[in-house]
Amino acid sequence: MSKRFGFPLLMLLAALIIAGAPQAHAGVRFGVAVGPAYPPPPYAYAQAYPYRHYYAYPLPAYGYSYGYWRGYRDRAYWGATSGTGAERAAMAAAAGDNPETRPRSATMKKIMAVGQRGRVRIRDLKEKKARGEKIAMLTAYDAAFARLLDAAALDVLLVGDSLGMVVLGYETTIPVTLDDMLHHTKAVARVARHALVVADMPFLTYQVSVPDAVRNAGRLIQEGGAAAVKIEGGRAVLDVVERLVSVGIPVMGHLGLLPQSVHQLSGFRKQAMTADAAERLMDDAVALDQAGVFAIVLESIPDEVAAAVTERVSAPTIGIGAGPGCDGQVLVCHDAFGLAGEYSPPFARRYAQLGELISAAAREYVEEVRSGAFAAHALK
Ligand code: KIV
Repeated sequence: MSKRFGFPLLMLLAALIIAGAPQAHAGVRFGVAVGPAYPPPPYAYAQAYPYRHYYAYPLPAYGYSYGYWRGYRDRAYWGATSGTGAERAAMAAAAGDNPETRPRSATMKKIMAVGQRGRVRIRDLKEKKARGEKIAMLTAYDAAFARLLDAAALDVLLVGDSLGMVVLGYETTIPVTLDDMLHHTKAVARVARHALVVADMPFLTYQVSVPDAVRNAGRLIQEGGAAAVKIEGGRAVLDVVERLVSVGIPVMGHLGLLPQSVHQLSGFRKQAMTADAAERLMDDAVALDQAGVFAIVLESIPDEVAAAVTERVSAPTIGIGAGPGCDGQVLVCHDAFGLAGEYSPPFARRYAQLGELISAAAREYVEEVRSGAFAAHALK
């Protein structure tokens, strides 16, 4: 066999062995490309869709060219180990590869769709309000959930200080520290590709002084990777809001039931229940709006009050137990998916019972380990 064809054939054989085994589920095709698109065909190729394209072909100017394209599952890009861009494009075309119609796994399609949607920015939320499109926000505290929720095309992922209650086992959000928030914000921000990541500023990280607030908010953005922070309160925190916005840190406000003030409020109670209280809340919302918040969470207040605030302010309102009249809705993900244990607030809507599923699966695992059935089919 001449040297001219021996090497490509060897490459083809090797490629088939490598490409065939792990990606067999994705389909493997191979052959010899003969076509007008590139001057020196034929070249041998083996494709294991959608992740690999091995090739070997003779290039008069360079001797042999060989290598493979890779489509990483989580990055959705293709590269080549040799050849110029034009050569690679020609080889791909000769092999019948069209980026538009290239077969993709379902996971890859979802990831690419998210990539195409791009990153949500604070301006997008304002534009949604102007167009009358609702904003969807959920809390997330770790990478596993953030990945799943991000792929579901949520607009905002809130790393809420509800972390303290649903993840860390506290009775209120008050014990949550800046370090706790940083730790969990990093995990969410690391994997979120689409949603705007907002981090709650925990109790006492913004109430003591404006410089303190700037330093702490700055850490959530700089170290945590959040795009914005959320703080509780109205006119009482206006100086903080103004300063943060003026140094370029987007702020989400939070009015109504303020969990960090649970003792002052004598418990987790619905707010703005009297005309006076509703008026105060409206004044707070207007003040926050004028100070430049990009959105306002309205928690546990009457539907009519939330609708009136939504009508009055330019910032989008995001309700939780505040009725359908808000510009968007937020839920604590543990409440939404049935992971919160015994207590969930009365307004929390449940979309899945993952807690029950996990308990049943754990019981099955325990039974299988104890009976020896686990070892018998663990590798299937
Ligand atoms: O901490 C949190 O999860 C929140 C939501 C309830 C809005 O602030």
